[in-house]
Amino acid sequence: MTENRPDVVSKILKLKNEKKAVILAHYYQTGDIQDIADYIGDSLGLAQKAQHTDADVIVFAGVNFMAETAKILNPSKKVVVPDLEAGCSLADNCPENDFKAFIDRHPGHVVISYINCSSRVKALSDVICTSSNAVRIVESYPKDQKIIFAPDKNLGAYINGKTGRNMVLWDATCEVHDVLTIEMVIKLKQENPDAKIIAHPECKGVILQMADFIGSTTALLDFTSRDDRRKFIVATESGIIHQMKKKNPEKEFIIVPADKTCMCNDCPYMKLNTIRKLYLCLKNEQPEIILPQALMKKARKPILKMLELST
Ligand code: 13P
Ligand code: SF4
Repeated sequence: MTENRPDVVSKILKLKNEKKAVILAHYYQTGDIQDIADYIGDSLGLAQKAQHTDADVIVFAGVNFMAETAKILNPSKKVVVPDLEAGCSLADNCPENDFKAFIDRHPGHVVISYINCSSRVKALSDVICTSSNAVRIVESYPKDQKIIFAPDKNLGAYINGKTGRNMVLWDATCEVHDVLTIEMVIKLKQENPDAKIIAHPECKGVILQMADFIGSTTALLDFTSRDDRRKFIVATESGIIHQMKKKNPEKEFIIVPADKTCMCNDCPYMKLNTIRKLYLCLKNEQPEIILPQALMKKARKPILKMLELST
């Protein structure tokens, strides 16, 4: 039997109270999921919320590396996800064994890994960062410290430029941000000369060079609220537009499209989650994130280091 949407929403809210659950959602989730979430945030904000929640069950509407981070930070909680297939091209393109060999080829390097990686890669890292604290984490090391940065080479190159470092970069990209083209950004700017360009640092360097503002999803959202410009060309995933419009209904947001077939740029992994799957995972308490204790112990250390450096 299929429920209509208001039914599913009221069932989710009822179950959430009965089970003492909390719903954490990333900005790239669909609007209906964002609207029933207890907290919506970027990777750092979501990790911080997961660490401190006193709920019994964490329903994580995002992708697996985010839900795994929640479990690692708060292992006594049950963490359930709407769809266990919600991966990430950055995590997928940094396999543990290849990364281990890469580290071995670079002795004396500190390993800084972007949170968009597997728990096994986190366990091989000295410290984790997100797009909102990467500069701060890198700058916590002396200027002459040799550093490996993985897995996103676009973010790594951007941080190298910001900090004057020469970090060794792992060669992977986000398939959602890396497909955005400078030609499309220029075309949109020509059509909307009064718009400001804002971009997530997972975009290519040529796009970042043109941007008026670069930041994590939370930082992009906050910028559109505090800036007095009324129009923004947004180079990131489409889901963020939901909150931008909610917070600033009088402003206009133009997403940089992935191709000419739509005015959208959806992450295929984030968008595997639906409100119905979220209801089912809360009802059945599965799929559940289960990780070996030893792995969680190893991966927790670099995540906690990041959180300490972020306060
Ligand atoms: P944020 O940490 O900026 O939310 O980014 C997460 C992500 O997956 C971007 O593609
Ligand atoms: Fe991964 Fe890119 Fe999707 Fe973010 S948008 S979850 S980096 S594939």
